[in-house]
Amino acid sequence: MNREPLIRIALPTGRMLEQALNFLKILDPSLENDVSNRKLKFKGERFEIFFAKPWDLPLYVEERVADLGIIGRDIIIEQERKVVSLIKLPFGYCKMVLAGFPDNKNLEEVKIASKYVNITRKYLNNRWNRIKIIKLNGSVELGPILNISDYIVDLVETGRTLKENGLVVKEILFVSSACLIANISSYVWKRKEISGILKEVENIYENN
Ligand code: PRP
Repeated sequence: MNREPLIRIALPTGRMLEQALNFLKILDPSLENDVSNRKLKFKGERFEIFFAKPWDLPLYVEERVADLGIIGRDIIIEQERKVVSLIKLPFGYCKMVLAGFPDNKNLEEVKIASKYVNITRKYLNNRWNRIKIIKLNGSVELGPILNISDYIVDLVETGRTLKENGLVVKEILFVSSACLIANISSYVWKRKEISGILKEVENIYENN
């Protein structure tokens, strides 16, 4: 039997994983649903799935380790990798914000801590006379708390982390959600399968 090639999809570990896997299970019900085990790669009848760290995922898609990937818009904007953005998905909603302590500062040079160095530069470069971006790899709320920075640029989902650390949103830079992305060659060579997937996704969300 001449079976269609499996589409290989990268899913991001972390808070979006369960929703991303549930979404794919609508398209391929044969997929396992247990994300609690430590297996990083498995096959269904239609898709082959592997789990990747969110910050590595666009690279896997760019290099065609995966044909498709599901990843937050925040990381797509930050990394600007050569991938095709196919469609926004209705989960993984959060906001990219500038946040700090409630008092308003009038500063000549502003220090901003963030994992998102490129986004910080892109959105805020002309805001102050001088801006110093301090790259942190996580827990960026520590920036203002430990007086390393005046502000942070970070994702907010529930707002709980900011609140518990006495910080407030100063400005929303953009809204992020999950996106389906494709490798450029896969998009050409597996066009039939990928177009089919896109049509199904559109139908699912039109009917819900
Ligand atoms: C993210 C983000 C915030 C927090 C926001 O961090 O960087 O710290 O979640 O979520 P909330 O608005 O629901 O509180 P993550 O948990 O991914 O860990 P990190 O700080 O190590 O990046």
